[in-house]
Amino acid sequence: MCGIVGYIGHRTALPLLLNGLKRLEYRGYDSAGIALPHGEGLYIVKHAGTVAQLESMLNGLDLPATVGIGHTRWATHGEPIDRNAHPHTDASGRLAIVHNGIIENYATLKAKLQEDGYAFRSDTDTEVLAVFIGALYEQYGDIELAVRTALSEVQGTFGLVVLSADHPDILIAARRGSPIVIGVGNGEYIVASDATAIVEYTRSVFYLTDDELAILTRSGCQTKTIDDIPTSAELLELEFDLERIEKGGYPHFMLKEIHEQPETFRDACRGRLLAHEGNIKLGGLRSVEQTLRRANRLILTGCGTSWHAALVGEYWIEELARLPVEVEYASEFRYRNPVLSPDDVVVAISQSGETADTLAAVREAQMRGATVLGIVNVVGSSIARETHAGVYIHAGPEIGVASTKAFTSQLAILMLLALYLGRMRHLSATQAQEIAAEMLRLPDKIQTILSRGDFIQDIARSYAHATNFLYLGRGVNFPIALEGALKMKEISYIHAEGYPAAEMKHGPIALIDENMPAVVIAPRDELYEKVLANIEEIRARRGKVIAIADENDPDIAAVANHVIPIPRTLPLLTPVLTVIPLQLLAYYTAIERGCNVDMPRNLAKSVTVE
Ligand code: F6R
Repeated sequence: MCGIVGYIGHRTALPLLLNGLKRLEYRGYDSAGIALPHGEGLYIVKHAGTVAQLESMLNGLDLPATVGIGHTRWATHGEPIDRNAHPHTDASGRLAIVHNGIIENYATLKAKLQEDGYAFRSDTDTEVLAVFIGALYEQYGDIELAVRTALSEVQGTFGLVVLSADHPDILIAARRGSPIVIGVGNGEYIVASDATAIVEYTRSVFYLTDDELAILTRSGCQTKTIDDIPTSAELLELEFDLERIEKGGYPHFMLKEIHEQPETFRDACRGRLLAHEGNIKLGGLRSVEQTLRRANRLILTGCGTSWHAALVGEYWIEELARLPVEVEYASEFRYRNPVLSPDDVVVAISQSGETADTLAAVREAQMRGATVLGIVNVVGSSIARETHAGVYIHAGPEIGVASTKAFTSQLAILMLLALYLGRMRHLSATQAQEIAAEMLRLPDKIQTILSRGDFIQDIARSYAHATNFLYLGRGVNFPIALEGALKMKEISYIHAEGYPAAEMKHGPIALIDENMPAVVIAPRDELYEKVLANIEEIRARRGKVIAIADENDPDIAAVANHVIPIPRTLPLLTPVLTVIPLQLLAYYTAIERGCNVDMPRNLAKSVTVE
C-alpha cells in the first residue's frame, strides 16, 4: 500500500521519480507527489489524483536536481485531498519525507509537539513524523541522529525516505514492517517500496530489514540499525524482466495476467513435478522434510484470495495426505490464542509476502514454537525471509490489484504440497502419477478457456446492470465460488456472495428472483446431481443461472440460462479451471460498467497495514 521512490545519483531525478511512481501506482493511487532540492530549499508538488496528472503539473518546469523523493498514496489517516498527499515536511519546510505504514502513537507525539508550539497542516500521521524529525534536527543539528532518534520513539510501521535541503547529497531510508528495497547502480541508488520501480535501472538490490536504516550518498551507502549498530547488506539479483511489468499490448494488467496463467501455472510446476515417477521435488522444503513427515496437523493461513487458495489446499491435503488441515484468516489467527503444538506446521500463503496480517500470523506461530512455511510470490519479501522454509510460486510480478495469476500458481504449489505430503504417507506412486500427468495438461486447458473470452464477454454484457450476484459451488469448488464473488465485487462494485451450493436453501434463496444472476460451478463430479438440483431450485424462482460446467454436458445445457464450458479434468483439479471463467466474467463486467479494473476504488495492492 502506497508507493515510495527515491533517487540519488548523476541523472536528473524527476523523470526517474515519475517513472517509478507510474510503476508503483498499483500500490495506491489516490494522491501523488514529489520533492526535490531546488535553489536553497525544496520544491514540492503533490495533489490528490493520479501520477499522470502530477506529471502534467510538472510539465515544462526546469528541475535539474539529481536527488529526490516521490510517493503515491493509499489513504490511512486523512482523506485523499491535496494537503494530505506526501511528501510531508517539517516546520521549516526544509525537510521532507515519504512514508508507508502507520505511526500508531502519532496522536501523543502530535500533542507534545503542539505543546511545544508546532503547527500542522494535514490530518496525517506522516506529517507528525516529519515535524518530529525536524524538531530533533533543530535540537541536534545532525540529520541522521534526528532520524534515528525519532524512529526509536515511534510505535507502528514505516518504510520511509527522508530528504533535507540542508543535506542535498544524502538520502536516508528506513524500514519497520513496510518494505524498502534499494537498487544499487554505478554511483547511484534508487530506493523503492518494491522492485518494479527499480528493475529498468539496475538488477542489483538489497532489502532493508526491520529497524534498519540506509544512508545513501553518490559515493556509497552505509547501513545500520536505528540504534547505530552497523549492519551489512546482502546484494541480490532481481529475477524478473521489464516486460513482466508492462502491459504488453493488453488494455489492462489484469487481463494480461489472466492470460499469462497457462505459462505461470507451468512455471510453478517446472522442475518440481516429476510426473513419470509420481514424485514431487520441493527444494525449498528440504530442510524441514523430517518435520513434515511427522507433522500432525497443518494450519494454512492468508488473507483474501490467498485465503481462498488455502481453502482449496485444505481439501487437497486432507484428501491426498490424510493430514488434518485448518484454514485461518491471518487477521484472526494473530489475535486469537491459537492452540499450537510443536508438531503443527503453519503455512502462510501470500502473493506479496508483505501482507501485515499474514506477517503477524507468521511471527505469532513462530513465537509459539510451530514450524512456519511460506508460499510466496515476491522473492526476498518479508514473509519469504521470516519463515523457516518455503516455496516460491514464481508467477512473476502481479500488478493488477485483483489477484489472478498468483491464485492459480498458489493452487499449483498447494497441489504439489498435497502430493508431496501424500507420498510421505499413504499416496501410491500410481495415484500421484495420474494427478501429476493431468496437472501437466492443465495449461493447455486453461488456454482453451481463455480462447472463449468473447463468449464470456457477451454474458457479462447481459448481466452488467445487476446489483447482486450469487456464486455457488460445492466441495473443492466452494472456495472458487468465494473467489469468483470476491473478484466480481472488488472490480465491478457489484455486491456478490459465495456460498456452498447446498447452503442456498438455508437463507440466500430468499434473494432469488428474475433480477438475481447465480453463477453455479457444476463440473461432473460426485456432487454434480445435487448441484443440478440447486440449479432447478433457482430456475423455479425465475433466477438466472450462469453455469460453469464440463464441455458437452447436455443435462446442464437443458437447465441453465448460459453454460460456460470448461475442458474435462480430474474432479480434484477442477478449481484450476473453474476459476478462469470467473476471473474473465468479473473483468468483462467491470469493463462494461466503465470501472478501472487495474485500480479499483479504495483498494491497493499489498496490504501492509492492519
Ligand atoms: C483480491 C486480492 C486480495 C489479496 C489479499 C492478500 O483480489 O488481491 O484479497 O489476495 O490482500 O494479499 P497477499 O496474497 O499479497 O498476502
